[in-house]
Amino acid sequence: MTQDYEVRDLGLAGQGEKQVNWAFTRMPVLREIKRKFQETEPLKGKRVSACLHVTKETGVLVLTLKAGGAEVFLCGSNPLSTQDHVAAYLVKQGVHVYAWRGMNEKEYYGAIDNVLECKPDILHDDGADLIVRVHERNEGLSSRIAAGMEETTTGVIRLTAMERQGRLKFPVIAVNNAKTKTMFDNRYGTGQSTLDGIMRATSTLLAGKHVVVCGYGWCGRGIAFRARGMGCIVTVCEINPLKALEAVMDGFNVDKLENVAGKGDIFITATGCKDVIRKEHMVKMKDGVFLANSGHFNVEINLNDLNELSVEKKVVRPCIEEFKTRDGKKIYLLGEGRLVNLVCGEGHPPEVMDMSFANQALCAEHVSTGKIRLEAGVYNVPEKIDSMVAELKLKTMGIEIDELSLDQKRYLESWKTGT
Ligand code: ADE
Repeated sequence: MTQDYEVRDLGLAGQGEKQVNWAFTRMPVLREIKRKFQETEPLKGKRVSACLHVTKETGVLVLTLKAGGAEVFLCGSNPLSTQDHVAAYLVKQGVHVYAWRGMNEKEYYGAIDNVLECKPDILHDDGADLIVRVHERNEGLSSRIAAGMEETTTGVIRLTAMERQGRLKFPVIAVNNAKTKTMFDNRYGTGQSTLDGIMRATSTLLAGKHVVVCGYGWCGRGIAFRARGMGCIVTVCEINPLKALEAVMDGFNVDKLENVAGKGDIFITATGCKDVIRKEHMVKMKDGVFLANSGHFNVEINLNDLNELSVEKKVVRPCIEEFKTRDGKKIYLLGEGRLVNLVCGEGHPPEVMDMSFANQALCAEHVSTGKIRLEAGVYNVPEKIDSMVAELKLKTMGIEIDELSLDQKRYLESWKTGT
């Protein structure tokens, strides 16, 4: 490690401080965890390496881990998602940050290598690039890692594949799979932030537009519902019959992409798969369509196909490239086909990241107590933590819920009472 941070411009720290403070006011669960961490220091002496989108919400998480006694090393989990002002502020707060917006591939992996130089005890990952890198470097780093935490669906899929092949060398907690993560962050977070990113980038009117959503997992559902809420005509494309049926009964049009390619105005991918929108779809598209991706990697819209079809390409607005095809048609690509919500917007709002990152922080505490020893493998977030996050969130929202009486509990546990 040549220096203990690398960011765009430390002069942006003042702006970053305001943004992180703003997120802090809207993340009451994490605020409470931070207060407790300050008292109990559960991460004292631990080195934490994190590969996350460097946003104001991540700033709140990282400062929470630091309050718990950890020394934190942070890099970005996407070359285009870092908020440079937040990165600068975190450096001023004593976090070792290696991240700036617009990194090339070499710089991106160089930053991951930098955060691993500390020989971490705990990892926080978003997409599994950090954890995969530890395995690739194969330098004995794995043996001292108590556990890694994985934030996103794509990362969990990659790590589960590693586990299946017997390649995973330490335990990983699939934070993504906590109910207080998936049901809220993936659905409402992605739903809102995807449309927000598209609106910020394009300044287009959504009402009356035909939006084609590829993928009807938690993220696709969120996007489809929010697009409908904005007055869009929504068609869902799916490969899974159950999910397709769910979309039908949720009231959406469901069709093959090749059938709607010529009808859509805005195409949004949220599948986690590659080559979803290809040449054969692009040639059918109308003039002036927008292509946006909300999946983790920039592989869902086939960019080679788009380039091959085009005779000219230029940036026409921040975050929008115009591709002119041979027949004179224009196709607009948002955020270089990378996560539209983080590249063209600020990512999910703090209120949902509050729950996702509360799970991250509490899982870090869970694995660092030394009381549990997990074998290598992918684990769910302990139910106790998941429920605690839900309870705390409701409490901070001032919402009360009913409780079962003892008699009701007994009734639910017995099988004897019938008609
Ligand atoms: N992933 C999606 N939105 C995010 C945010 N605001 N901060 C960090 N990671 C995110």
